[in-house]
Amino acid sequence: MNSDDKPISDDPFALVDPQLWLITSATENRRSGLIATFVKKASIVPDCPRFVIGLAHQHETCRLIEESGSCVLHLFSREQSNWVEQFGVPSGSQTDKFKSTSTQTIKTGAPVLSDAICAFDCQVERSWEIGDRSLFLLQVVETKMLNPGFPLRFSDMWNMVSTELRQTLSTLLVRDQQIDRQAIKIWRGEID
Ligand SMILES: Cc1cc2nc3c(=O)[nH]c(=O)nc-3n(C[C@H](O)[C@H](O)[C@H](O)COP(=O)(O)O)c2cc1C
Repeated sequence: MNSDDKPISDDPFALVDPQLWLITSATENRRSGLIATFVKKASIVPDCPRFVIGLAHQHETCRLIEESGSCVLHLFSREQSNWVEQFGVPSGSQTDKFKSTSTQTIKTGAPVLSDAICAFDCQVERSWEIGDRSLFLLQVVETKMLNPGFPLRFSDMWNMVSTELRQTLSTLLVRDQQIDRQAIKIWRGEID
């Protein structure tokens, strides 16, 4: 609610303002990473930490997680907002997205970006297909605090990026929505 006690938006979905995550994964000779909002802490047990993430099948990072069984989840701040364009626009199947970024590994071997706020090194416990996405249940095997900072949220990013990038992200969103709509309807048996 704002100071007039009126809703900020008429669209309930517009009130959902998730944090942005950078998810990386690698096999012996391939690596990639993407920006994701579909990341949820999935356990309250300190000694059994878990996340659930949802990634679209067409993304290189999704394929790498399926192959390697591991990934790293990062939170990052507005100082690293350039990662949205670097990791959230191109596909890692065509380009090495890690150029000019400093990386390390912790336990699983998936790449950790040293400039992130923190990293959760994870192994896949189980996965499910839901049409447009693979859901991965992740066991956190190691965590690392890397740098101080406040995790970037979707609305912060949207307000700070250039008009050009906002336009690019909108175009990609429409493309991905079309792919996902088709995949959901096939999965539901609504179309062949
Ligand atoms: C703000 C934002 C949020 C995104 N959230 C997700 C997500 O939750 N799941 C997903 O599969 N893709 C998501 N994407 C799309 C991927 O980050 C993007 O398509 C990426 O380029 C895929 O790279 P890859 O093919 O190298 O894996 C998001 C992109 C942006 C810009």
